[in-house]
Amino acid sequence: MTTLTDMTEAHTEVLTSYPPSADFAAAANATAALYDEAEADRLAFWAEQAHRLSWDTPFTEVLDWSQAPFAKWFVGGKLNVAYNCVDRHVEAGNGDRVAIHWEGEPVGDSRVLTYAQLKDEVCKAANALTELGLVAGDRVAIYMPMVPEAIVAMLACARLGVMHSVVFAGFSATALRARIEDAEAKLVITTDGQYRRGNAVSLKEAVDEAVKGQDCVQHVLVVRRTGIDVDWTDGRDLWWHEKVDAASTEHTPEAFDAEQPLFLLYTSGTTGKPKGIIHTSGGYLTQASYTHFNVFDIKTDTDIYWCTADIGWVTGHTYIVYGPLSNGATQVVYEGTPASPDEHRHFQVIEKYGVTIYYTAPTLIRTFMKWGREIAFAHDLSSLRLLGSVGEPINPEAWRWYRLVFGADATPIVDTWWQTETGAAMISPLPGVTDCKPGSAMRPLPGISAKIVDDDGNELQPSSDHGEHLTGYLVLDKPWPSMLRGIWGDPERFKETYWARFAEQGWYFAGDGARYGSDGEVWVLGRIDDVMNIAGHRISTAEVESALVGHAGVAEAAVVGASDDTTGQAICAFVILKAHHAEMSNEQMVDELRAEVAREISPIAKPREIHVVPELPKTRSGKIMRRLLRDVAEGRELGDTSTLVDPTVFEAIRAGKS
Ligand code: PRX
Repeated sequence: MTTLTDMTEAHTEVLTSYPPSADFAAAANATAALYDEAEADRLAFWAEQAHRLSWDTPFTEVLDWSQAPFAKWFVGGKLNVAYNCVDRHVEAGNGDRVAIHWEGEPVGDSRVLTYAQLKDEVCKAANALTELGLVAGDRVAIYMPMVPEAIVAMLACARLGVMHSVVFAGFSATALRARIEDAEAKLVITTDGQYRRGNAVSLKEAVDEAVKGQDCVQHVLVVRRTGIDVDWTDGRDLWWHEKVDAASTEHTPEAFDAEQPLFLLYTSGTTGKPKGIIHTSGGYLTQASYTHFNVFDIKTDTDIYWCTADIGWVTGHTYIVYGPLSNGATQVVYEGTPASPDEHRHFQVIEKYGVTIYYTAPTLIRTFMKWGREIAFAHDLSSLRLLGSVGEPINPEAWRWYRLVFGADATPIVDTWWQTETGAAMISPLPGVTDCKPGSAMRPLPGISAKIVDDDGNELQPSSDHGEHLTGYLVLDKPWPSMLRGIWGDPERFKETYWARFAEQGWYFAGDGARYGSDGEVWVLGRIDDVMNIAGHRISTAEVESALVGHAGVAEAAVVGASDDTTGQAICAFVILKAHHAEMSNEQMVDELRAEVAREISPIAKPREIHVVPELPKTRSGKIMRRLLRDVAEGRELGDTSTLVDPTVFEAIRAGKS
């Protein structure tokens, strides 16, 4: 683990702050009173937020923290998550409201799903899953591109109390296999193929490889998306259009306990083995719904909301599926990449649907910056009234560009800090209340408590505008409704990973370094563990290292995240080759290794650079000094090398790098 002093100061404070316009503030869903209400009685505040949902059986206790860190929220309450996301809007007379404007990657390929239609689809899928023998508590792996059926599949699972484990369709067969195995999924839902930059490529092939020899998987349910040929295993494989379309649209939702597990989502930690983060029903949906309503200021009659995330990540779960749908919002769901068929695509989509709220990641904003503002300015973006950012710190320059080019220098920007583990937004402006400072996520949302502390748990002081900025650990010092309830099959790892660092105080340590600004606002600086953030994707150094050493030619590997102008961080690997591989040229070897990482994890984890080196810098206890490798990767002067066994190793590494 790196120490706080290793952390380079990512931002210099910019004093200009951006208040919301008077009009925006006057019409905003959330006012400053929300902070006061939460402050006055936190648990009563959360009970009130929970009452935004429809409960079958009311809860009798807001929070049971007696088994900390294993929380129970809304004890005794029962509800059905899918009913809350779909049926109740239809019952309220809003069945004709559009739930999803779906835009396929091929231009002209689009679909509209109203809430009534979505309800029918979810019911059919729930009936089909029941016929396949799935019961509450089972796990289903979903490995799909951004098609409406992916959302239907998630909601059908939720309706049945079955846990979904969505695996990003960019992950390799090997990564999918590990996740299916860990969760012991009974069913995999996928598509024949997916569109990637205009080409139809297979997806089912990866599923075939991933489920080979796995006893747990009984069926593979396949949506026909591209029409490409697929291999078929009779008895195991089923077409969605045959199985689901034949099912009834009648399905009575069963109410489940507030703590019924809702989903698993695998994320990278500091070891090579991804963790299955467990989220449950009542608390998760309460916070997803509350934050979506207040942070995105959603007005169901007029807003067209677009979150550009993929359902393979937590942002897609919370701010495409559960948040917007529980609020009865109308949203755009886009299947493809931003540059398909060209760089105008996102702007065309905004223009076509009159998108009012747009939520994306800093890495994409920086890509748009590179493409140039003329592209954005070729389109009418005047419908936009609120912008959002998530996934990594947004640099102030990108923040200002985003507001200027997307938001006509007028829209608020909500920079939302949260994690797979937190389930929903935690630190973020309220758009009608907060004077935003570009680059800061500002302060914890009403009902949420966070602190920045030093090694001993003492809270840091606000930084002065000039001089030294003190960096500390970002901790969550009070439980919150959408908190993770554990790591699948590994309660010890859950305690060790998140609760051990400040065990005495009983705080959750988020893995991020942060500092306070002069007004006490939070500046998140990034991970201080060995987790990298590549274009908003979380990848651990250990995962990439284990993929590299899995290659027969590699003796040792060390991986670091080096800063990158577009993707935030980029992966740099240093490898020592085994002697017998000397016949192959280093270039060939590097190509092979990059392919190996793509095969083992995903193309998104391919190192930007792989350097073949004769030696790695190690401490006397044998620990690789990643901090020094980061210095090398970023071309900096070397930090303190006094603890190295052999300080001359750097000459050799630098030679290998050039
Ligand atoms: O380092 C923080 C960064 O992303 C990490 C969480 O990654 P993940 O679980 O994949 O979830 C991403 C989407 C919620 C955090 O530990 N991060 C996320 N949002 C921000 C951020 N860093 C700074 N500012 C943010 N707004």
